This record gives sequence, C-alpha cells and structure tokens, in this order.
Amino acid sequence: MSITITPLTGSVGALIEGADLNQPITPEEFAVLHQALVTKGVLVWRGQHLKPDAHIAFAKLWGTPAQNNPLDPSVPGYPGLIQVTKIPKATASTEAWHSDSIYTKVPPKISILSAVVVPHGGDTMWCNQYLSYDRLSPAMQAMLEGLRARFTGLRLARMRGIDEVPEAVHPIVRTHPETKRKALYVGHPDTAQQIEGMTVAESRPLLNFLYEHSTAPDNIYRHMWQVGDVVIWDNRCTMHYAVHDYGEADRCLNRITLLGEVPV
Ligand code: OGA
Ligand code: MN
Repeated sequence: MSITITPLTGSVGALIEGADLNQPITPEEFAVLHQALVTKGVLVWRGQHLKPDAHIAFAKLWGTPAQNNPLDPSVPGYPGLIQVTKIPKATASTEAWHSDSIYTKVPPKISILSAVVVPHGGDTMWCNQYLSYDRLSPAMQAMLEGLRARFTGLRLARMRGIDEVPEAVHPIVRTHPETKRKALYVGHPDTAQQIEGMTVAESRPLLNFLYEHSTAPDNIYRHMWQVGDVVIWDNRCTMHYAVHDYGEADRCLNRITLLGEVPV
C-alpha cells in the first residue's frame, strides 16, 4: 500500500493516507513519514483507533519515549501512555501557544496524540515555526541571531499549584537538527520570560511581537478531532494550542512524547 501525503493548509500540517498505524510500519514507509514530519511539522491520520501497544511501537520508531510525570494519569496497564484528560479551563495550561516543555533543559522533540474521547470542540491548533522565522525581515533575523531567552514553567506551575518553577535558557532561533532549517523558538509570555542581556522592558515587546507574529491565521492548522485520529508533531519547528471551549464535557487523548536534544 502506498502512502499519500496531502497538505492540510498552505503553511503547516499534512494528512496521511495509506498507512495503518496498528500494523508494523516498514523502514521505507517510515522514511517517507519522517521526511513529511520534519518538513510539514504535523501529520494527521483519521480513523486509526490506535491500540496502546501500537501507539508505543509507533512512538519507538521516532525515538526514545520520555519519562512521564507520575502525577499524570496513564492508560491502565500502560505507564508509558499518558491520558490527556479534560481539565478545568481555569487550569488548562495548554490553552496558550507552546512548544512542549520548552522550560526544560532538553525539551521533547516529538509528541503523538491519539483521540479516545472527543467533545464538541476541543480542537488543537499548530503553527509553523520555520515560516515564522522565514517571514521575519532580514533586519529582524539578523537582530535575533545568537539571542537566547529564559523560559519558565510559570504558567503550568501556577495552574497546578506547584511551588518550584522549572526554567531553562534556549536560543530564540534554533536550527532543526535534521532539516538544518532555522525555526523561531518562543512561546506564551508566561513562558518566554526575558531575553538574556536585555532588560524586561526591552525584551517584553520583542517577545510579544514574536509570539503574535508566529500565531497569525495564515500560519495555522486547526484540527477538529474525531475519535480514532492520530496526530504527531515536531516540537522543534511548531507550536500548538489546545482550544478549551467544551465546558465540562469529557475529552481524552492518549499521548507519548519523545526525548529531544539540547536546542542549538
Ligand atoms: C499536549 C497538548 C493538546 C491538546 O499534549 O502537549 O498540548 O489538544 N495537548 O490536548
Ligand atoms: Mn502541549
């Protein structure tokens, strides 16, 4: 069976057909999917109803599954498979543009979600951070060269009532280790706190601008989940945003993230 790749927007995401994720993926198929992921940033499958063992096997093709937070619920019998369950809107730290765990020293490179229970709403959006970089003026690109920002997990910590706020310093422009393309590496103002060597007053407007610039409507794919969907994304060249418009309704997505590398 041959794989077809159809762009979902003019900027980010592709729909994959002709690859059944509950079956073993051949090395040839994986090479096609890998190339699609690192260039399009997000891959979408419909109608997979991915079994936990297949989710774990698929994840291992891409790298080493990250250790999960023991406080997060997991699929019974599968401690490696986190359940992203509904959370009250007031504590939904994912309802902001982010790249997963950017406030850690070695953020995860890839995340994989499989939809189990889907409410009306609860869409997820992704934006293309290669394009966010490419669309900056040469003068702005030159100014960002070599700049690093301090990222904190303040939003997550505040919402979960955690006292110790994790933090890390990363380049604002990172080079994707596989495509060698430059991508803008920012996030919500609670997360991207301050540019090294600048005052807060200097860095805040710049970081705000880069956040707004990255998340313009012409740089976004919005996924309307159906039960059985699988979405994989590359955190090194995208950000995402979990829309919380479903009140108290149930929502459950199974999730695995893969260990990344130090951003450079
Ligand atoms: C995540 C996340 C998006 C969603 O799992 O990292 O941001 O829509 N989830 O739940
Ligand atoms: Mn996330």
